[in-house]
Amino acid sequence: MCGIVGYIGNKKASPILLNGLSYLEYRGYDSAGIAVIEVNDIVVKKDKGRVKNLSSLNGINELKSSIGIAHTRWATHGKPSMENSHPHMDNSSTFCVVHNGIIENYNELKEFLISKGYNFISQTDTEVIPNLIHYHYYNKCKSSENRFLCAVKSAINDLVGSYALEIISNLYPDRIIVVRKDSPLVIGKSENENYISSDIPAILSYTKNFYLLDDNEFAVIYNDHIDFFDENLCMHNKEIKNIEWSASAADKNGFEDYMLKEIYEQPQAIRETIGTKLSNETSCLFDDLKISADYLKTINKIYIVACGTAMHAGLVGKTLFEKLCKIQTEVDIASEFRYRNPIIDDKTLCIYISQSGETADTIAALKLAKLNGARTLAISNVIGSSITREADYTIYTHAGPEIAVASTKAYTSQVVLIAILAIFFAELLGSCDKNIISELKSDIIELPIKIEELLNNVDKIKEFAKTVYTQKDMFFLGRGIDYCTAMEGSLKLKEISYIHSEAYASGELKHGPIALIENGIIVIGIITDSNLVEKSISNLQEVITRGAKTLIITNQNIGNLNFDNVINIPSTNALISPILAIIPLQLLSYYISKNKGLDVDKPRNLAKSVTVE
Ligand code: G6P
Repeated sequence: MCGIVGYIGNKKASPILLNGLSYLEYRGYDSAGIAVIEVNDIVVKKDKGRVKNLSSLNGINELKSSIGIAHTRWATHGKPSMENSHPHMDNSSTFCVVHNGIIENYNELKEFLISKGYNFISQTDTEVIPNLIHYHYYNKCKSSENRFLCAVKSAINDLVGSYALEIISNLYPDRIIVVRKDSPLVIGKSENENYISSDIPAILSYTKNFYLLDDNEFAVIYNDHIDFFDENLCMHNKEIKNIEWSASAADKNGFEDYMLKEIYEQPQAIRETIGTKLSNETSCLFDDLKISADYLKTINKIYIVACGTAMHAGLVGKTLFEKLCKIQTEVDIASEFRYRNPIIDDKTLCIYISQSGETADTIAALKLAKLNGARTLAISNVIGSSITREADYTIYTHAGPEIAVASTKAYTSQVVLIAILAIFFAELLGSCDKNIISELKSDIIELPIKIEELLNNVDKIKEFAKTVYTQKDMFFLGRGIDYCTAMEGSLKLKEISYIHSEAYASGELKHGPIALIENGIIVIGIITDSNLVEKSISNLQEVITRGAKTLIITNQNIGNLNFDNVINIPSTNALISPILAIIPLQLLSYYISKNKGLDVDKPRNLAKSVTVE
């Protein structure tokens, strides 16, 4: 987590840095800070709280420099405070650093530096870095030709952990040095100016040309050129990538919040994700996915591994792969998978889903599968993100930048992409009836129109939100594929409304949790599978009898029963119904959060991209 921005060029740096930080706040918002080189001194402005506090600090508008680095923090080591805010300097104020990641051996390094006479002001792991650079600059690198870079490289050699770093020095006011390992960092190139950021959208309004820095790669960035070095400090050329996203994709575009905008972008995100991969006339086609029928026939298990919402997309994927491809599929949370010695070998295909492609646990789980001989396939929304570089195969959702912490359009796009992947596999394997596949394809193609229909009729859900936003607990119930939707609906509610909620497989409720059902409690039931309608209705009657108030999301004929509220959604194949059923639940969480006056896009304690364990 944490977001970093940098600028070097001929414009005033501070407004560019503050603007970039405001886009990166989704990565953390405990504190914010910037450092620029004014004449020959490094000036740091920082404080706890959000970027808007930083923008109003005394003197920030007077900074004239055109080189600077900036940071927005999600606290790990040391509470949110001015001292613990980044940037951090060495004792002599010569080197200044912002850091995203965690230095695991910082205690050991701190003791070493204290023994050499260095002092520490903060409780952060980061503060060792500028001091280590200082130490190496005046010891090991004294006679090095490229002394600043040598000192940075020597400091990096001492670090254990993850980092994306920007470093400036008043001895070298013409350059910023950056390096990364297991934390994201991109460099945006423009005419006589260069930008640095943790992600592409934050600097998309300045340039569309990006260098995606690799692990252990260094860049020394000047206003008119950039030198790239590998881990042995050998200089090399690097390919530049043109990113097609439009700059307005990262703006609110008239919506009150990013989350609402992203909910409304779902029809387009799904259209883009379907692209040319799926049509009624031909077999599914993934341009760059070189998976053959022969290879697929050797697979006896698929693992889908992910975190949070992406894991819920994986749960829908399990049903799709098992039903269409007849391949046993397990879904696991990445943080569990990586430590439980999963049984994987060369007959296992491991699929990793991550919107950001930077989630630390997901990346580690991918590396583990590779070590055990499995092939790996990444599903990500971010071109060139870490998991896509590690995986054997990559396919992309085309949802555009997702800024709100709570994931919406990335989730529905992930489910669509997995459905197309499952059809692609099934067609290669010949494992599924052609008519079933053909109907499913038509249903997928119709999804954007059906979502538009749902988004044009939100009054009922808005009204319902008004009546329930003061609740303390809620339940989400579903059977089969609807249980996946229940889990994702419940997660959305927790994330942005802070209402405690539980998702249960409806049939399991009576084995314990029904004890919690009392007069007036809200139970949300999802019913989209025609084979399970009666069973689901019976389970819901059990809670109504015990006083629950119900909201039912359905596309089935459920008759005229005693449900308090019913939202009808368009009918579709049950295998992809979570894509439609989640829309009213996303909106419900959104409107509950608004009614409570909360910050929808930046819920407390969360960060969008969890790049630490
Ligand atoms: C965080 C976010 C969630 C997200 C999860 C996985 O917890 O708050 O919204 O689902 O990370 O993120 P990823 O980028 O790997 O999909």
